[in-house]
Amino acid sequence: MEDVARATSVVELFETRDWESSFSPDKQMRAVTALERGRVLFFPHLAFDPDPEARRLLGMAAGDEGRKNVSLDPATGRVHGTSAQDLDKARLGAVMEQFGGRAHALVGALFPRYASRIERARTSFRPSEIAGRASTARHDDKLLHVDAFPTRPTGGRRILRVFANAAPDGVERVWRVGEPFEAFARGFMPKLRRPLPGQAYVMHKLGLTKTRRSAYDHYMLRLHDAAKLDAGYQRDAPRTVVSFPPGTAWMCYTDCVLHAALAGRFAFEQTFHLPVEAMADPTLSPLRVLERITGRKLGEGASG
Ligand code: SIN
Ligand code: FE
Repeated sequence: MEDVARATSVVELFETRDWESSFSPDKQMRAVTALERGRVLFFPHLAFDPDPEARRLLGMAAGDEGRKNVSLDPATGRVHGTSAQDLDKARLGAVMEQFGGRAHALVGALFPRYASRIERARTSFRPSEIAGRASTARHDDKLLHVDAFPTRPTGGRRILRVFANAAPDGVERVWRVGEPFEAFARGFMPKLRRPLPGQAYVMHKLGLTKTRRSAYDHYMLRLHDAAKLDAGYQRDAPRTVVSFPPGTAWMCYTDCVLHAALAGRFAFEQTFHLPVEAMADPTLSPLRVLERITGRKLGEGASG
């Protein structure tokens, strides 16, 4: 089932060498079409290469036992998930901010139609090795899944993520990429229970979610869990292995691209959110796909 040759159909290549590049209208069209159709945009010559002083700090973050994620909230500038203190913590935040800014510039140049609506969310640095990491199935990102987060409902907004492999030592970041979202959702949706009336209201009131969970968020979480908990699916589902060497970058809509991160360390990631209406083709969004499957409105304000 591991079909490396099929990688060309899940990946769209860009020869870009500079985070501040501009793109011709043809390239912009190729990028938005590929992205919205659920492909991974891959930039084999686009390096995020921190300087030696930054590398020292990144190495320290890697030493933080059991921490898989350092995060930077661009709204507050605060860094979480590291034992680094004071000046070191501020410098670590500055490297992450530098990556976030570059990712933002790239996304702005590649998708001008998104520019006025896209929102930059958290930046993360993922220092530790993934391979061999133990976790429960639900939390195991080595298993195929679409992204959906229990405490952060999106109401249907897209999750676009930009990644860069900054490993200093040739270590590739290895992903599996699965089948198209609609095929996956059609297989699992009939097995999922509907949202319970009142549940989203109570969870929000109790502070368990940051905003009220829509029916869309309910189904996306159930799809995330159902895929990870289904050993047969994990064994047999179509997939392609894609490896991202150090010095490369890639991006995709992780709410519709089935993905699993199998191995690698020292990656940076920047999350963006986009309202469905800002897409070139909103009918390709997971929100609209799930609405077609259920025959109901599921987005923000809809409770099931
Ligand atoms: C994930 O979103 O499942 C992890 C991706 C990665 O860190 O490479
Ligand atoms: Fe994920």
